[in-house]
Amino acid sequence: MTTASACGKVILFGEHAVVYGRPAIAVPVSQVRAEAAVDPLPAAGDVLLETPDLGRRYWLAEADSSDGIAHLVRLALKELGAPARDLRISVRSALPIGRGMGSGAAVSTAIVRALCRHFGAHWPPEKVSALVFEAEKLYHGTPSGIDNTVIAYEAPVYFVKGQPPQIIAIGAPLPLIIADTGIFSSTREVVGAVREARGREPARYEALFDAIGKLVDTARRHIEDGNLPALGRLMDENHRLLQELGVSCPALDQLVEIARQAGALGAKLSGAGRGGNIIALVTPERSASVESALRSAGAASTIFTTVTSHPRGE
Ligand code: MEV
Repeated sequence: MTTASACGKVILFGEHAVVYGRPAIAVPVSQVRAEAAVDPLPAAGDVLLETPDLGRRYWLAEADSSDGIAHLVRLALKELGAPARDLRISVRSALPIGRGMGSGAAVSTAIVRALCRHFGAHWPPEKVSALVFEAEKLYHGTPSGIDNTVIAYEAPVYFVKGQPPQIIAIGAPLPLIIADTGIFSSTREVVGAVREARGREPARYEALFDAIGKLVDTARRHIEDGNLPALGRLMDENHRLLQELGVSCPALDQLVEIARQAGALGAKLSGAGRGGNIIALVTPERSASVESALRSAGAASTIFTTVTSHPRGE
């Protein structure tokens, strides 16, 4: 059996505006991963796909064209020059689905890595990312590509759609608490809602995207300098701009407020919004109290992670 894994991610700054060409910053969450295993399945004549977490087991040849995993497996095998038969691909994920942590991109990345390993190929992160992007389009419609990029590189990235990512050096470790509202959020739907709203009020939305893009550039400098208090303030400001975009919701606003009151340096929603997660930047001294305040306030789960320049990787 050949196995491989891929990390989760959170967007620190710039979600949504990144779909419209502004920069965004995302970081890996290495301790929460998706894992794929590839086994030979002699004489099967097809590829068996298993996602035990979702209780699914089906043949590649029978998968319909909207199935992201099947689409990705077909593309990866073609690129590897391997026949689509006599394999079993099994995938598990510890990443919550629909919470802005990149579960789809992580599952796809783990599969591509496991297939590469199985067939003895060594693809650079940009190649893995480009293939996973194809599956992301099926899941999310018009993704910017930031999720597949940060996950394939497993490093903090400054990302502009259509450009190679820039890996950011982290000046001082960033202790983050990720707290889940427990509400499923469809990236495709929320991105679609923003597109509609922008269609109605283009000037207002473009101005909001510009403000977010500017904030992302300032945030990058503070990440490199290790200025955590300034970063916290920028997270608060980014959340306010996301509220104006119409992608927050009462549950997200409440967790953001609780985190701030409990002593976080700043907090914001992360990912598509209207559910999913918030992230709070904390000091090491305050991390336990912020986490426990978020749990008492009803967060479905919390994850404590520290972003550094040296993620564990695969
Ligand atoms: C989703 O993780 C981030 C969004 O900006 C969508 C995208 O970039 O594709 C909301």
